[in-house]
Amino acid sequence: MKSDVLTPQAAYDLWSQTYPPIAHNPLMRVEQDVVERLIAQQRATRALDVGTGSGRYLPLLAATGARVVVGLDFSSAMLARCAGSPRRGLVLADACRLPFRRAAFDLINASLMVGDVRDLDGWTRELARTLTYGGHLIYSDFHPSWAQHSWRRTFRDADGRTHEVAFQPHAIDDHLAALERAGLAVQAIREPRFKDDDTSVREFRRQWGNPPVVAVFHAVKPHGPQ
Ligand SMILES: C[S@@+](CC[C@H](N)C(=O)[O-])C[C@H]1O[C@@H](n2cnc3c(N)ncnc32)[C@H](O)[C@@H]1O
Repeated sequence: MKSDVLTPQAAYDLWSQTYPPIAHNPLMRVEQDVVERLIAQQRATRALDVGTGSGRYLPLLAATGARVVVGLDFSSAMLARCAGSPRRGLVLADACRLPFRRAAFDLINASLMVGDVRDLDGWTRELARTLTYGGHLIYSDFHPSWAQHSWRRTFRDADGRTHEVAFQPHAIDDHLAALERAGLAVQAIREPRFKDDDTSVREFRRQWGNPPVVAVFHAVKPHGPQ
């Protein structure tokens, strides 16, 4: 199948038309299965969802008890798909230049968006800056299996046309090094595989076996001097 390759910003503006605020494909389902459980273990006061898209994670962050829940994205078309509420602020900005003071949030989530970011170190440093001491960072990325097998990220727009999104592959070691340089301590890494058993996943398994498809990281900013 031939398709054009779009930059992330152009892609997400277009994709927003067909991007509901729920896990709507096998990859998102397996990702949410892991991330939702990590978020549910948190008791937060101020939570941030970086690259929130259509706001899939905003209700789950609110369920931690957070008084403030903010969703940030650089696509205004995606933010327009978020169901707003007074507790949920929406911010249009770049994840690599967060418009927040140091230590503004005690819980930060970033689902399936760092694959759009070239400067992994800068992104990780910026999230660490915005986190309180003792605060938790939970994020997911496309597993290195994607680069290894040259899988393409594609989507259909509202007219049924297929487009490809360019993405930046990051190795697990690159994530670990970036987290360490940003002063964050890794608590857990998970590498889930597809769980669905529909035709598309069966066809995928026939061709590729059952490799991990997502990498999920949970890190903490250690407490500073008391
Ligand atoms: C694959 S979507 C994931 C959306 C949502 N996190 C989810 O999992 O349902 C990636 C989102 O990240 C946003 N994004 C990518 N790079 C960004 C950046 N540098 N700053 C802010 N948002 C970004 C895109 O606009 C898009 O909405």
